[in-house]
Amino acid sequence: MVTATAHTNIALIKYWGKADATLNLPTTSSLSLTLDDFYTTTTVSRADKDTFTLNGAPADGTRVFQFLDMLRGELGDFGGVTIDSVNHVPTSAGLASSASAFAALTGAATRELGLDLDTATLSRLARRGSGSASRSFFADFALWHAGHDDASSFAESLALPADDIAMLVVQVSAAKKSIGSTLGMQRAQTAPTYADWVAKSAAQLNDIQRALANADLTKAGEIAEVNALAMHHLNETAREPFTYFTAETRALIAFVQQLRQQGVLAFVTIDAGPNVKIITDRTTVPTLQTALKQAFPALPVTAAYPGGGITYA
Ligand code: PMV
Repeated sequence: MVTATAHTNIALIKYWGKADATLNLPTTSSLSLTLDDFYTTTTVSRADKDTFTLNGAPADGTRVFQFLDMLRGELGDFGGVTIDSVNHVPTSAGLASSASAFAALTGAATRELGLDLDTATLSRLARRGSGSASRSFFADFALWHAGHDDASSFAESLALPADDIAMLVVQVSAAKKSIGSTLGMQRAQTAPTYADWVAKSAAQLNDIQRALANADLTKAGEIAEVNALAMHHLNETAREPFTYFTAETRALIAFVQQLRQQGVLAFVTIDAGPNVKIITDRTTVPTLQTALKQAFPALPVTAAYPGGGITYA
């Protein structure tokens, strides 16, 4: 029996499009920040057949069982396994947990099989469960190389200063996303400017690494915000247009941009849902918390900081 804990991550340069939907090969490389307070702990043990519990209760295991079948194809038939998974996400945060979940499962399952795989291999396997899971093995910043095939598409740790960065997670809604990321990406890839977004992403990836290396969070935040808002613009201009934003999402974006004009270090990034993550530095967190409480008293806010890599028990 092996227990693994993996933290979730938020992309500053997004993965939003697949070059290969079966292998989860992305159209762009992406860069993320691992968060401390958001993680999944998963225990795997051998059994006669596959079972899955989430937070102590039997849960829909469709994606998990598909992932196990993929692992059997890659690693050889290892029989059935019992998977008990617990998501530790502040109830107020409304963050998706597939990244931490598939990373923890990959780590625990392969160790239970007696394998001691390097993180690049673990990352490659977890990618098949959820693309963003490839980035959840590493502390602080991770870079997922898009690659061009199964072997070349994996994430690695980036040695960049992470002492100063902080992220405020503002929960607009706790509801499950209406359009899953796979469908959202498929639609976004029909936007007329999709190729342009991909091309710009490569330049942004270089620029943000330079900014983070210089501990320039203003520059890094600016790049991340442009990248994320352009991703959401793809959704809105797809052949079948859609949006993850609500009126409150838009109000929060405007609010953050206005604070910035007053000299506050704050930039938004948004994933496949309405919740807003604000990129800032540690010293600005209290200022932002006060301003948010005043302007959006009903919205729960969680302060998050860089998190650690995968651990085993
Ligand atoms: O890993 P998936 O398939 O849930 O896709 C994640 C997509 C975004 O969260 C929107 C962006 C990212 O890079 O994490």
